[in-house]
Amino acid sequence: MLKRVSIHGNWSSRMGFVLAATGAAVGLGNIWKFPYITGENGGGAFVLVYLACVVAVGLPVMIAEMVLGRRGRRNPIGTMKLLSEEESRSSAWRFVGWLGVATGMLILSYYSVVAGWTLSYTVESISGAFRDAGPEEVGAMFSGLLASPLTLLAWHTLFMGMTVFVVARGVQHGLEAAVRYLMPVLLVLLLVLVGYAMTTGHFMEGVHFLFDPDFSKLTPAAFMIALGQAFFTLSIGMGAIMAYGAYLPEDTAIAPTAATVVAADTTVALLAGLAIFPLVFANGLNPGEGPGLIFQTLPLAFGMMPGGVVFGTLFFLLLVVAAWTSAIGLIEPAVAYLVESRSMPRRRAALLIGGSIWLLGFATVFSFNVWSDLTVSIGDRAFTMFDGVEFFTSNIALPLGGLLIAVFAGWVMSKGSTLDEFERGASTGYATWRLLVRWVAPAALLIVFLQVTGLVDITNL
Ligand code: TRP
Repeated sequence: MLKRVSIHGNWSSRMGFVLAATGAAVGLGNIWKFPYITGENGGGAFVLVYLACVVAVGLPVMIAEMVLGRRGRRNPIGTMKLLSEEESRSSAWRFVGWLGVATGMLILSYYSVVAGWTLSYTVESISGAFRDAGPEEVGAMFSGLLASPLTLLAWHTLFMGMTVFVVARGVQHGLEAAVRYLMPVLLVLLLVLVGYAMTTGHFMEGVHFLFDPDFSKLTPAAFMIALGQAFFTLSIGMGAIMAYGAYLPEDTAIAPTAATVVAADTTVALLAGLAIFPLVFANGLNPGEGPGLIFQTLPLAFGMMPGGVVFGTLFFLLLVVAAWTSAIGLIEPAVAYLVESRSMPRRRAALLIGGSIWLLGFATVFSFNVWSDLTVSIGDRAFTMFDGVEFFTSNIALPLGGLLIAVFAGWVMSKGSTLDEFERGASTGYATWRLLVRWVAPAALLIVFLQVTGLVDITNL
């Protein structure tokens, strides 16, 4: 077969892909979401289920996206259409690309609002607001922010503006360069925070909470949440990695490259947990605090440590950057589609998509204040609009996308096609991958779905 090339060219090296994919993967999902949902779900046992999901389902699906992306070398909608035709299967598979585009936009609508919180906290830190602040003051600062729709809206607007600005100019230059230098700095700062956590006298409590599994705390819903988080944090299930895979050099070995990205992402999440939980216990806070967890714990550490103003400002600034590089990955599939298939100028496409996402974000902004009473009860939980969008995207849309991608790579594509991509660069482990992507990933995802729809209760299996 004549080898296809992407119209955008390729990454200069394997490292280019690793940096871009890690930039997309490492974001609020690792530092904001992982600690708070781990806290809500009781700690160690949940972490164990999450790690199992990352390895047994997340890694094979990431490899599948890279295999499909490099074979198709188009945006996710174009790639799914092309490959299904090539395998003489229904071109309805392109729906998977559409689902991904829509999911990315929905995720970004709330992601941007939370990224706005990190912008606000950067400014608070510079102004010295955390200095010697106690848990009550820090808690009040956070609830004050949420109570003000205009403040939230202003930060959300700024963050969407930053995202559109970069995407309108084309992703490659500024951002790839930023990731290259800023990600390592973020890692160092996380280590500084873990170091600080060791001085609180409650470090081991944090370690036990994260790593000692107490299976009695595991609810059936926890399986679904762990799987959803694995997809969210790895940026899989919506075609983003497929799009990045389209620019992979022809001879890059896919499996070890995917494993590198997964390992980097997991390391950052676990370090965030090690930085945050000791502070939770040292200050008598509740680990099940919810989405405000890092905003109510980290300022306490920065308020007390020497050089806290500098460290705190840097930390929230880097969190902004981590969120920014992820936001680009979330919006790019929709923009690329309009540019490639509708011949729209990139600038206009970025403004149009960014503007729509900005509007969708109002639902999240108002969830915390004027619409906070507007809830839907599912089971014993009341869902605000924010909870609803977050739940639907992470726990339904991403796993559904992942299921379809796994089925496509494992059952629809011929063995010859996937083997050809997989083996390049002397990757080993094809048989294991094929087993995981054909059986283990679909089975795990199906069970979770049946459970979501209430048809089967995992506890009775
Ligand atoms: N992985 C990102 C995070 O942890 C969020 C995310 C989900 C994402 N899907 C994505 C980022 C697709 C880029 C592309 O914060």
